[in-house]
Amino acid sequence: MKNYKPFSILLSCLIFFSCSSSQASKSEATSEFHEDKVITKIAFGSCSNPRAYKRSKGQSHALFNTVVDKQADVFVFLGDNIYGDTEDMLVFKKKYQALEDIKSFRHMRDNTQIIATWDDHDFGVNDGGNTYPKRKESQQLFLDFFKDPADSPRRQRPGIYTSYTFGKLGQRCQIIVLDTRYFRDMLPRAKGPKKEGTVGWYEPTKDTSKTLLGDAQWKWLEQELQVPADVRIIASSIQMLSYEKGMENWGNVPHEQKRFFDLLKKYNCQNTVAISGDVHFSELSKKDIGGYPFYDMTSSGITNTSKNWAVAPNSFRIGKPSWERNAGMVEIDWSKKSLRVGSFDINGKPLIQHTIPFEELTFK
Ligand SMILES: [Fe+2]
Repeated sequence: MKNYKPFSILLSCLIFFSCSSSQASKSEATSEFHEDKVITKIAFGSCSNPRAYKRSKGQSHALFNTVVDKQADVFVFLGDNIYGDTEDMLVFKKKYQALEDIKSFRHMRDNTQIIATWDDHDFGVNDGGNTYPKRKESQQLFLDFFKDPADSPRRQRPGIYTSYTFGKLGQRCQIIVLDTRYFRDMLPRAKGPKKEGTVGWYEPTKDTSKTLLGDAQWKWLEQELQVPADVRIIASSIQMLSYEKGMENWGNVPHEQKRFFDLLKKYNCQNTVAISGDVHFSELSKKDIGGYPFYDMTSSGITNTSKNWAVAPNSFRIGKPSWERNAGMVEIDWSKKSLRVGSFDINGKPLIQHTIPFEELTFK
């Protein structure tokens, strides 16, 4: 059952008592709280093109059935959930309808709580950011499609960032869902051919005026990171660590990436991992961010994958990438106090799997 208001009050109280210098008003608290639902299986995925459905005679989105078979508690749709790519809202709406028309999507929605954010294509434009002229209208379509309740905080402000908190303290998992598009400044693409070894055109910028999340979302995120939780999952449409491929990622705006890591340290956010999508393959990345091993589990390719992009360089990669169509999973073992992160194929077979004890996920 969805319940915003009591948790908004609770969050305001927690922040009031834990941080007297930055008291939050009730309106700034935007979480959805499911206290009685302890979760252990968080599935996720991205890059689902409904156009593939007819061509594949219904097989293109079979991973949604696999998510149900795995009895996931939630499925986090990490973006490129459809390929809107238009400023015509009637066309956009038809493209959402094409996802609705997919039987396996409806099967997953009927059986698994769906949490969603967007990436560029379902925001509305390839590699898009704050210059996309229809972002307000696109937000409306998104919230309507994913049936955000009428009193959802996401309907009352720009951007679709939000958070979900499950379970009582001791077994509490918070999923922080970021919006990496609505406020993002446009980054210049390098001119000319791609650099050797890269598969995209972007490079880390030195311009520290460029933002990825925008002021309001940063302020909100800082509050969210102070909410007590035993496991915290950061859902980002784009990869948070890998940066050498020239694709869109947090590494393109290193000052924003550092700001995020500094916040984790400031609030001693243990047992925190990222999940990401966008890139059309699956890989696990890990980086020491100053005494803390930060993991980013990427799953991309419900319908579309690319071997070329998968094998491009990533010095933070652990093990091998996979370019099978895949969905991701974070499994929490509350009794053994560990996380298992990975991805799996249409048959449910693991492609990537890595266990991380809670004791590793602390600031040293
Ligand atoms: Fe994308």
